Amino acid sequence: MAKIKVAVLFGGASSEHEISLISAHTVLLNIPKDKYDVFCIGITKKGHWLYYPGEYDDIKTGKWEYNTDCCTAVLSPDALHRGFIVMGSDGAFLRKADVIFPVLHGMNGEDGSVQGLCRLAGLPCVGCDMTSSAACMDKTVTHKILEFAGIRTAPFIELRRFSLKNTDGIIEDVKTKLGFPVYVKPACAGSSVGVSRAENADELRAAIKIAFAHGEKVLVEKEIIGKEVECAVLGNGNDVIASVPGQITPAEKFYDYDAKYKLGTSVLDIPAKISEQQMNELRETAKKAYIACGCSGMARVDFFACEDGLVLNEINTIPGFTSISMYPKLMENMGIPIGALIDKLIQLAFCSDNN
Ligand SMILES: Nc1ncnc2c1ncn2[C@@H]1O[C@H](COP(=O)(O)OP(=O)(O)O)[C@@H](O)[C@H]1O
Ligand SMILES: [Mg+2]
Repeated sequence: MAKIKVAVLFGGASSEHEISLISAHTVLLNIPKDKYDVFCIGITKKGHWLYYPGEYDDIKTGKWEYNTDCCTAVLSPDALHRGFIVMGSDGAFLRKADVIFPVLHGMNGEDGSVQGLCRLAGLPCVGCDMTSSAACMDKTVTHKILEFAGIRTAPFIELRRFSLKNTDGIIEDVKTKLGFPVYVKPACAGSSVGVSRAENADELRAAIKIAFAHGEKVLVEKEIIGKEVECAVLGNGNDVIASVPGQITPAEKFYDYDAKYKLGTSVLDIPAKISEQQMNELRETAKKAYIACGCSGMARVDFFACEDGLVLNEINTIPGFTSISMYPKLMENMGIPIGALIDKLIQLAFCSDNN
């Protein structure tokens, strides 16, 4: 039987570009080669798409971009092409694909944009579709959907760039509606990029400025005191499994970018150190949230487990896939090793009842 042609997309015009390179390296090393014929499309930080025929190890380091065998490639939105138009040195050719696997984190990859392009291209795409990706990328939209579904999230205030004309008003609002300390974050970023904690009005002003450097919409959230507990969800429609959750104890004052990827000193505990009752409730809530947001394939659902109950923090539709990442570790703990997980994710992309 002919192998299934998988195009793995990596990199991306995103603040999480470097994480994607490491995630993609893990995916590429572990994808079952007996079943899948894999090729790579790298997207530079500037958003240039390249067909990359080189070594997987050079992806991790960022060296791939400078490989002279790279050539410009575009995913054709023409549904009859079903693949990439590659501008090779001997002229353009069509590299057909059966399925796209976007291993892209954050903007321009996890946010519905690539998923929409796959839809136009008539190609199945691993993970969430366009709408659910977009809904989970924008934390204000996620909060609103979850509220509608009766799932508790942190109280927040939404800021748009035009709101900045009245910063005194914002500060008043924060004082009366939330109270300090607060967390300030871009609505559409990830990996803690642009996230800061503010204890007073001055810190709030500075935090807002930082967050707006990463997007047009910002959330100011009430600080939630609780354990950071994450649950891996896998499946389509309402046929989904939610893993035994894991817990992160950040090395830094909060789980910021350095604590996540650089220092490697944050502690991951599987299972999370919460009561069995809270664990069961968390797994049910993760599934409920996944279904409410219309997710398919996979998502990592992150919570704060507090003394007075659970608060859902966010849903990541393309969670980290590095060797220290929670999603693959949680699935491995459920008896699904990474190779089988990748296989399952690709198979789920082909299910017509995606939603
Ligand atoms: N409302 C909050 N209360 C307490 N800590 C928070 C809050 N929001 C974010 N944090 C801290 O900041 C980290 C990053 O924020 P998060 O919303 O998860 O954004 P990202 O998408 O960048 O991961 C969280 O893991 C947590 O440590
Ligand atoms: Mg997070």
